[in-house]
Amino acid sequence: TKPAFFQVAIDGPASAGKSTIAKILAQNLHFVYVDTGAMYRAVTVAAKKAGLSYEDEAGITALLPKITIEFKPGTPVQRVFLNGQEVTDEIRSTETTNNVSLVSSYAAVRKDMVNKQREMTEKNPVIMDGRDIGTTVLPNAQVKIFLVASVDERAERRYKENKQKGMAVDLKTLKEEIEARDYKDSHRAISPLTKADDAIVVDTTGIGIDQVVAKIKTIIEEHQS
Ligand code: DC
Repeated sequence: TKPAFFQVAIDGPASAGKSTIAKILAQNLHFVYVDTGAMYRAVTVAAKKAGLSYEDEAGITALLPKITIEFKPGTPVQRVFLNGQEVTDEIRSTETTNNVSLVSSYAAVRKDMVNKQREMTEKNPVIMDGRDIGTTVLPNAQVKIFLVASVDERAERRYKENKQKGMAVDLKTLKEEIEARDYKDSHRAISPLTKADDAIVVDTTGIGIDQVVAKIKTIIEEHQS
C-alpha cells in the first residue's frame, strides 16, 4: 500500500550529507523536511537539562511524555525547539553528539520518536532523514535512498563545518568519533542502521552536493509519475 502523501526516506551513516541534501530537495520539491537525528539529539539535551545521566534509561523514559519537539524554518539551518525553548546549537554540541547514540538506543525513546515521525507524514509529502527511516519508520516510502561516503571524507566535511563554527577538534579525533557513532548506530538491538532491501545506494565520496541533489531528484521524479 502506497502512502497517501509522497515519502522519501534518506538513511545512512553519520556525516554522509543526509541533512544537507534532504533540505535542498525538500525546498526544491516543496516537501516537508523531517530531521529525525535532531529529534534524538533533542531528547539527549532534555536528559541533560533534567539533570539525568545519559545511562539512566528509566529516568529518560519517564521524561518522554513531558517532551515537545518543534521545528521552525530558519537559515542556514532549521531551528529546533525543546519544550518551547530553542536548542538549535545545543543539539549539535560535542557532548550531545557523543551521547546521542546511547540515548537513541532506548526502546521507549525509539517508540516515541517513531510515532511522532509518522504523524508528520499524515498531511504533507515528506523527505525524512535518519538511520531507520526506510527499514522501520516509513517501510512503504515511494523512494528510499541509502547515502554513503568514505569515513575520511565524512571526517573532513565535519572538520570544515566545525572550523566554520569556531569549534577546534582535530581531524583524527573527529574520525574516531564518527567511527564510534557508526558502530553504535549499526549494532544496537532495536532498528539499527541498515540499508533497506529496496533502497538505492548513492555514494557521495568525491561528488559535489549539486550532483548528488540532481541524481536523487531524478530518482524521485521517476517514481512520481
Ligand atoms: O543524523 P544525526 O547525526 O543528527 O543523528 C544523531 C543520532 O541519532 C545518530 O547517531 C543515531 C540517532 N538516530 C537514530 O537512532 N535514528 C534515526 N532515525 C536518526 C538518528
